[in-house]
Amino acid sequence: MHLFDVYSLFDVTPVRAQGCRVWDDKGTEYLDLYGGHAVISIGHSHPRYIAALTEQLGRIGFYSNSVVNPLQTTLAQRLGKACGYEDYSLFLDNSGAESNENALKLASFHTGKDRIIAFRRSFHGRTSGAVAATDNPAIVSPFNANHKVTFCDLNDAGGVEAELKKGDVAGVIVEGIQGCGGIHVPTTDFMQALADLCRCYGAVLILDEVQSGYGRTGRFFAHQWTGIRPDIITMGKGIANGFPCGGILIAPQFQARKGMLGTTFGGNYLAMAAALAVLDIIEDEGLINNAYHVGEYIKSRIPASPRIREVRGRGLMLGIEMNEDVAPLRRQLLFGDHIFTGVAGKNMIRLLAPLCLSFDEADRFLQAFNTIINS
Ligand SMILES: Cc1ncc(COP(=O)(O)O)c(C=O)c1O
Repeated sequence: MHLFDVYSLFDVTPVRAQGCRVWDDKGTEYLDLYGGHAVISIGHSHPRYIAALTEQLGRIGFYSNSVVNPLQTTLAQRLGKACGYEDYSLFLDNSGAESNENALKLASFHTGKDRIIAFRRSFHGRTSGAVAATDNPAIVSPFNANHKVTFCDLNDAGGVEAELKKGDVAGVIVEGIQGCGGIHVPTTDFMQALADLCRCYGAVLILDEVQSGYGRTGRFFAHQWTGIRPDIITMGKGIANGFPCGGILIAPQFQARKGMLGTTFGGNYLAMAAALAVLDIIEDEGLINNAYHVGEYIKSRIPASPRIREVRGRGLMLGIEMNEDVAPLRRQLLFGDHIFTGVAGKNMIRLLAPLCLSFDEADRFLQAFNTIINS
């Protein structure tokens, strides 16, 4: 049997990692400004994270959601305090897409309606409703396309209101910062208008913080830069530093009913041990603050060049939009300078480094990048 061939692969085989460094099977060291696609929050192989997971595995690795799991309650309390949503409830699942799927379902249960508003250039994941709310026809199968989703322009509150007025909208789903669509930061005015409009028309506001959340932008969630409080917040990626885990925060007005949502693996002991270790380390090491300052440092030092169109983003969620195809540049960074970066579309280098990136490591990237840009 061979693998179903859906991923474009770089010819690199990582075998070991530490902090923001990764080593391949030939012993070459790489600087990781991609964080395994925004997943590595506290850095690779943090000793406290390893200890927490190992210790938990030695006790009990898995049972099910039919018994009491105090780690889930502890995580809910700790997370509520850390992110400022102590009055919300937590539902735990396994991935970003599943979190969005659950959020869309909950919005529909709550309102009794079935249409969703999403935004152009959005990405919400690969499951049925999440991919239907994703603005990329290439990954939407005919089966997924039967959902009722309307795409509006980001930052166009008038367009959203025109749709909400029709009275059949269950929810509006928006990323804290659009990631895969090219690091587009919604304006504060727009986010505030969106919150007001959802309240006014009885639609559920869902903030997808799968990529932009968990401290990446210098606040716990990116939408917290705009002063709004959404009805549902979805999480994934950095929540457990690579142990599969996702979750949604649900405002107090939502009524839970037995069996309404569910999952086999969500909230399991190992995921909870990983997520609790992540919160401990984020707090003890001041990683949210670090992400903000190191990210802004990088942003302010990208050189002005006719090859660069714009630098966008916040904290360690950055996009460098070029006036050229960035594939050769990324290959040079990876195979010449041994620096992992991400991409969005053809023209954008996307930086999603672990939140513990140091100023020295940022300098290593800046030096390499500037040399390429000026060559
Ligand atoms: C904003 C956003 N939402 C949802 C997802 C889907 O997450 P997952 O791949 O864990 O299902 C992603 C993944 O890149 C994402 O960036």
